[in-house]
Amino acid sequence: MITIRNIVKKYKSGSEEIAALAGICAEIRAGEFTVILGPSGSGKSTMLNMLGGMDRPTSGQILIEGEDISQLSEKKLTDYRRKNVGFVFQFYNLVENLTAFENVGIAADLNGNTDKAAEALKDVGLEKRMKSFPSQLSGGEMQRVAIARAVAKSPRLLLCDEPTGALDVATGEKIFALLKKYSRNKDTAVVVVTHNPDVAKIADHVIRLRDGKIVADERPYEKLTDKKAV
Ligand SMILES: Nc1ncnc2c1ncn2[C@@H]1O[C@H](COP(=O)(O)OP(=O)(O)O)[C@@H](O)[C@H]1O
Ligand SMILES: [Mg+2]
Repeated sequence: MITIRNIVKKYKSGSEEIAALAGICAEIRAGEFTVILGPSGSGKSTMLNMLGGMDRPTSGQILIEGEDISQLSEKKLTDYRRKNVGFVFQFYNLVENLTAFENVGIAADLNGNTDKAAEALKDVGLEKRMKSFPSQLSGGEMQRVAIARAVAKSPRLLLCDEPTGALDVATGEKIFALLKKYSRNKDTAVVVVTHNPDVAKIADHVIRLRDGKIVADERPYEKLTDKKAV
């Protein structure tokens, strides 16, 4: 679904230049649960932001069904984000003075399609909390609202940056299981950045980054089936 070709992203800080991404190539597939692992500062968020069209590479290509999104105009890139990409962040980014239902319906840009907002909240197990404000919800529940908001528009790409970074282990596991469920939709690619190496166990595709480079890119399932075939 997405092919990344030799992406370089450099940031200038003062007179210095930092290569947040130093030439990475990868393939992101629909129907897969992709996990990006790596130490802090290795370029994980930068890679996710490139995939989501939130930022552009300094050089290289990001091909989505053949079209290079790094070359799109601002307006077309905004359209791409709106139509195709759902984001989930570490600290949920909910609007405090809106209910769970309003957060999903309004922020997901559903143009008043309230059925979809209710359905998305039901899907994450929050049908009874629709009228609650973020301050009345636990961390795990707030992240569920954020996930409902991201998936309500049926994005083809669900991007999550440290979605469990502020949650306890047990709640985090439930969030990962929920995210994995969305990747079972054959039209959706789910890409999760995390510090938690245990998540690799449930991933279809694991990318390990270090210093802006990919040091490992594996699909454990393919390895298993290869072994069986031998
Ligand atoms: N907007 C920015 N301006 C300058 N440097 C940045 C910016 N964003 C990221 N960086 C730098 O790029 C590197 C990779 O950052 P990031 O992708 O956020 O890493 P990670 O998400 O793996 O912790 C870091 O050295 C970081 O300081
Ligand atoms: Mg990061």
